[in-house]
Amino acid sequence: MNKDMAHKAPATEGFLEGFQHFATKAIHTGQEPEQWNSMAVVPPIFLSSTYKQIAPGENTGYEYSRIGNPTRNCLEKVVASMDGAKYCLAYASGMAATLTVVHLLKSGDEIICTSDVFGGTNRYFRNIASKMGLKTTFIDCSDLKCLEAAISSNTKLVWIETPTNPTLTVIDIRGCADIIRKHKDVLLAVDNTFMSAYFQRPLALGADLCMYSATKYMNGHTDVIMGLVSVNCDKLYEKLKFLQTALGAIPSPFDSYLMNRGLKTLHLRMKQHFQNALEVAKYLENDPRVEKVIFPGLPSHPQYELTKRQCAGVSGMVTFYIKGDLKHAGTFLKSLKLFSLAGSLGGCESLAEHPATMTHASVPQDMKTTLKINDTLIRLSIGLEDVEDLIEDLDRALEAAHPDPTNKM
Ligand SMILES: Cc1ncc(COP(=O)(O)O)c(C=O)c1O
Repeated sequence: MNKDMAHKAPATEGFLEGFQHFATKAIHTGQEPEQWNSMAVVPPIFLSSTYKQIAPGENTGYEYSRIGNPTRNCLEKVVASMDGAKYCLAYASGMAATLTVVHLLKSGDEIICTSDVFGGTNRYFRNIASKMGLKTTFIDCSDLKCLEAAISSNTKLVWIETPTNPTLTVIDIRGCADIIRKHKDVLLAVDNTFMSAYFQRPLALGADLCMYSATKYMNGHTDVIMGLVSVNCDKLYEKLKFLQTALGAIPSPFDSYLMNRGLKTLHLRMKQHFQNALEVAKYLENDPRVEKVIFPGLPSHPQYELTKRQCAGVSGMVTFYIKGDLKHAGTFLKSLKLFSLAGSLGGCESLAEHPATMTHASVPQDMKTTLKINDTLIRLSIGLEDVEDLIEDLDRALEAAHPDPTNKM
């Protein structure tokens, strides 16, 4: 086909243009029926732990399922194509992906981590990696000068999450990559969980590793725990592949099948998450019972322009501060009927959570204070339900938290 006639994914107004052929790749890459004798259109679930060898040292490409499994292989191929990457590797969970990446380092190396990250990532760097002789410095990577100043000759890994969790600060990935390139042997890893491959391509912006808790948007159906890491560099891939085999933090064939299935609708889901979240964010922003709304798709977000430059859209994560105190936040969360009070995010079902006592409970109090993770902060994962039903549920819960009409003024 003439290149000019090639279909272009429609751009979300003002945002980066959507990635070309995204849906086609998500549905077809790595799924070729011709690779199976049966010509199965959907990759089969290969449960075998081992594979018959042709002769000693001679095999069909598979030996043992920790090292390689055909179902996982299909998944890794499709994710690489969705990330615009050469390679992808799947791990047993997002945390398994993180710790495998950290095994690239050695004792004495230093990590710089953006301060506002998933609580489990913070806990892993502070309490576990530190015992292996790895020092982590937490800084605000949305301030590029701060990042530049923090890099030392021992820095080997910079870990960012954008938007950050839970306060949805957007970090300039290209800006970070430009700084890191000035230093030898420093890797930039981006946790892309909150955006998914559909809205953000860290590798194209200069990152070395694009990591996911695929448990969230990538799978999208709240029924798999998995991690993914995409890279372009051959050497980096070889090292991560070796660690996948050697550490063994791999996903099961059944989870690989489910993830593969979920990815086929990522483009449709993300568009609807964005649409629903935008409407919810606008509703909350105009509600007098709400102190402040943080949503990177709203012009009021401090990095709205950066978000439009860097992303093809915004996911369904909306954070807000309810007016009042812990009691008001508690009543609001307990009064929701459609939203489930639960950690996690990125599924079809809307969820609400209280970062201070749930996902970020393990973050030290002084850090929580600096990050403004306080008692009135509420994080919503806006799902795919009818948005008017979601708004009705939020309205009812806000009413329960603030029954006094004078609070509405
Ligand atoms: C942004 C982010 N990164 C990493 C993780 C860890 O992933 P998993 O729970 O799949 O191990 C999570 C989990 O909530 C997360 O939200």
